[in-house]
Amino acid sequence: MNTFTYIVLLGLLTLEAAIAAPMKNEKPAKKLRQIQVLPGDLLEEFAYMNQDALNFYDYEEELTINEPQIEIGRLTPSGNRVLVNYDSDYEEELIPHEPLDPGAPSVPGLLGPDTKEGLPTCLLCTCLSGSVYCDDTDIESIPPLPKDTTYFYARFNKLTNIKKGDFSGLNHLKRIDVTGNRISSIDEDALRQLPELVDLMVASNELVQLPELPKTMINIDASHNKLHSNGIKKEAFKDMSNLEYLYLAGNALSYVPLPLPESLRSINLQNNNVQQIDNDTFCNSKDIHYVRKALELIRLDGNPINLSKTPDAYICLPQVPHGNY
Ligand SMILES: *[C@@H]1O[C@H](CO)[C@@H](O)[C@H](O)[C@H]1NC(C)=O
Ligand SMILES: *[C@@H]1O[C@H](CO)[C@@H](O)[C@H](O)[C@H]1NC(C)=O
Repeated sequence: MNTFTYIVLLGLLTLEAAIAAPMKNEKPAKKLRQIQVLPGDLLEEFAYMNQDALNFYDYEEELTINEPQIEIGRLTPSGNRVLVNYDSDYEEELIPHEPLDPGAPSVPGLLGPDTKEGLPTCLLCTCLSGSVYCDDTDIESIPPLPKDTTYFYARFNKLTNIKKGDFSGLNHLKRIDVTGNRISSIDEDALRQLPELVDLMVASNELVQLPELPKTMINIDASHNKLHSNGIKKEAFKDMSNLEYLYLAGNALSYVPLPLPESLRSINLQNNNVQQIDNDTFCNSKDIHYVRKALELIRLDGNPINLSKTPDAYICLPQVPHGNY
């Protein structure tokens, strides 16, 4: 393994843990971290010290290669490598986009389709084995994406909407992360036909309505938007039998979106306007033996509701909800 691989893996190692952590907590719409430039040899030594841990990641490489944190080890023009650190509790962010080496030989098709600005998407963004990273590139619309795009990141840009055609035909797309934009609308049919979509991160935008999503979803993060309960369709999550994480904190929802699928492990509804829950919100008053064993975290703090008033609403849960009692 060469040094560059070490650096990349080292980054994976550092960030992997930090990425896993915020899944359970609210992710405020804050940006950034420090950037640190280390001379190559120092990093090499550091990588060597962590070799055992890195060897472990060798086996994981295939799984993690598409993660955004792969970006963190790269050569600056001066030949130094750049490491990105960030607040441990906070969502990671990539270093500001550096254009690719303009002197590099061009390979037809390798740079993806052309954007509206006439620039191939993979010059404007960074494309790496099915992942397309467009974080912090000031884009105002989704660029045309290569057909094999699996993970798409366009965090902290100036996107205002997602249109029907933006992701059409991307049959391998698993993740869309457009956290921290100004998205106020997503076309109703922009996402529902994506056969492999599992993660949608639209936190910290201006959405008033959640579009229809495919049943394949596992993670939905629409925290810190402008969602009222009428912006979420009736039974929107009912048939998502793999849905595990539903983040809707910091909106204006007045009730818990029902029914919740059995697979759900965490629902974050803190800082909304939920005023009432009842015996059947989480449990089943018709079946006293019913246990909702997967649902380990319910956040209802920051809502105008006194949870002591409905003591029978939690009998089937492994944990009582967080909130005011
Ligand atoms: C909730 O269940 C309890 C116990 O079965 C029952 O006494 C109570 O009336 C129920 N509350 C509502 C609002 O149905
Ligand atoms: C909630 O209601 C219970 C019982 O009605 C009461 O004892 C408690 O003080 C209330 N808590 C809050 C935070 O209002």
